[in-house]
Amino acid sequence: LPFPAPNLDNCLEFETCCTPILSIAKPTAPIKFKFQTYLPRRIRPAAHLVDDAYIAKYQRAVERMKALPDTDGRSFTNQWKLHCLYCDNHLYFENETHPYPLEIHKSWLFYPWHRLFVYFHERILARLIDDDTFALPFWNWDNQSPELPQGNVVPKVYAEKRSLYADCINTTSSLYDETRNPCALLPEGMVSFQNPESCPARANASEVRASNAHATFVQVVGVGVTPLLFHGGPYRLGDEGGGGSGAMEVVPHGTVHHWVNQKKMVSYRDSAADPIFFAHHANMDRLWEVWKTLPGGIRKDVSDPDYLNTEFTFYDENGGLVTVSVAQALQLDLLRYKYQEVANPWLANGA
Ligand code: C2O
Repeated sequence: LPFPAPNLDNCLEFETCCTPILSIAKPTAPIKFKFQTYLPRRIRPAAHLVDDAYIAKYQRAVERMKALPDTDGRSFTNQWKLHCLYCDNHLYFENETHPYPLEIHKSWLFYPWHRLFVYFHERILARLIDDDTFALPFWNWDNQSPELPQGNVVPKVYAEKRSLYADCINTTSSLYDETRNPCALLPEGMVSFQNPESCPARANASEVRASNAHATFVQVVGVGVTPLLFHGGPYRLGDEGGGGSGAMEVVPHGTVHHWVNQKKMVSYRDSAADPIFFAHHANMDRLWEVWKTLPGGIRKDVSDPDYLNTEFTFYDENGGLVTVSVAQALQLDLLRYKYQEVANPWLANGA
């Protein structure tokens, strides 16, 4: 059976993960999500390619989100706690047939849940700056190009304190997070998928790039050869846990989390409290689409009805609760966003 849309009120451990709004107001009944086909089609840009006007707009939007009171389901705290609520043994069902907490990692729910989480985050930001064309950036960490500013350092928009970007120092940016890994603040601080505790020196840059590209190739192309191998194992109502992580979930997804911020991003609990979380997951979401375009005709979305009919509950841009199905999450065309085209140089690792 599929999971029904959870009631967010069924949260354990108020201190850690329940969204603060739950202690203030009883949730009103959710409405069913409808595609907003009247919206302009949004193109999510590569974070290392955006201009200053874009950065200013994005900063303003997150500033406004952080300024919302916790009585508003769209507030930054309510939003990041939603990620925490959906994992780590916090959210329960009243349903006798499912006495276990819901977990949106380590199964086929991983991609669609995170897609929707990022989707509503983006729609809320767009509403807060009254700009329906607003699209979140993606952190193109798989782009191993040797030119600066390349994708595999922390993009300028999130790293205002780095000396590389001394021309735009803004320590009060709403997108800055002071708990990030010091290595992520260095101009040459390059992410290593294999060894996230390390801070590769410039001298080893080409080695690290090659190893990152190889790891990406192995996960996306080598391991992810069928829908379940890529997405993760089945997870249905009544299952105690998911059937295992998909190809990219541990490496590079998990190791990028670990590398960029060893305080927040490394835990399920706090990771969405660093704004870079959303650009990281936008890139995961983009790679999901890239994966589907690979040759062979076997890389498709999961078509099991228990997967398609599983539903989640989120806050939409109006602050009300909506329920959304996995089937809806798969219709990118109707969600009306796509990604700026970039090179995927790691694909050459198969040549
Ligand atoms: Cu819910 Cu990148 O994790």
